[in-house]
Amino acid sequence: MMTAAEYTRQVQEAAAYVRSALGGRRPEIAITLGSGLGDLAERLDAPLTIPYKEIPHFPVSTVSGHKGQFVCGKLGGKEVLCMQGRFHYYEGYDLKQVTMPVRVMKLLGIDSLLVTNAAGGINTGFHAGTLMLIEDHLNLTGENPLIGENLDAFGDRFFDMTVAYDKEYRTLAKATAEELNIPLATGVYAWLTGPNFETPAEIRYLRTIGADAVGMSTVPEVLVARHSGIRVLGISCITNLAAGMTDNTLSHEEVKETADRVQNEFIRLVTGIVSRM
Ligand code: HPA
Repeated sequence: MMTAAEYTRQVQEAAAYVRSALGGRRPEIAITLGSGLGDLAERLDAPLTIPYKEIPHFPVSTVSGHKGQFVCGKLGGKEVLCMQGRFHYYEGYDLKQVTMPVRVMKLLGIDSLLVTNAAGGINTGFHAGTLMLIEDHLNLTGENPLIGENLDAFGDRFFDMTVAYDKEYRTLAKATAEELNIPLATGVYAWLTGPNFETPAEIRYLRTIGADAVGMSTVPEVLVARHSGIRVLGISCITNLAAGMTDNTLSHEEVKETADRVQNEFIRLVTGIVSRM
């Protein structure tokens, strides 16, 4: 395993590259775009693109429906840094690589992160296309990006997760949704590694323990963000009802199709939220 000093050096080099590629621009908010939700990055004004493959030590995303670049630009009057494409544990990266972008955000001075994802709906009140504000999460993987020597420069070894998803941001998201007349559910997101979709038995279990949605991302990024004091807001796009809830078989095609269908509404909501953050 890489030493903490070596990892820190890599993060610093990656951040230095991104900082210089940004010229004088100073994004205040980062937005991680989930599967099928990448179009938001194409709506930014004055976009500036930084491909991951040009950033030292950065992984590159391998999932279809995910591009691999940062796009900096104006959204709702704010300068934002979008991740068009993220890294997943199931791609074979270790969690320190998966979360390297969040460390880089911190070093760039970004203190707010809006994370989005595609997720399977477990709550029986949901349908394909429901947007869900993440109120809390379940880490069911037994994995954690913060295992190993603590990076004291970023945060404390032990830190609080009582209110991981910023209370003020959640209130603001709900008010924005209401104002824009966009239905916004709330719920708990469960992280499993994937890459397989779940079994119906797993979904029944997840429902029993309090999950409303299930997915293969987000939680590692949120853990690292909270470790370094970045405020987090999370939105899931429920792209399908979870395994066993309908007669359908699950596929990545369905995930992308639904995300694509709700993208305009999603973009309207995110733009409204960002303008009020
Ligand atoms: N399960 C896990 N991850 C997902 C799903 C699902 O049903 N849909 C989209 N991402």
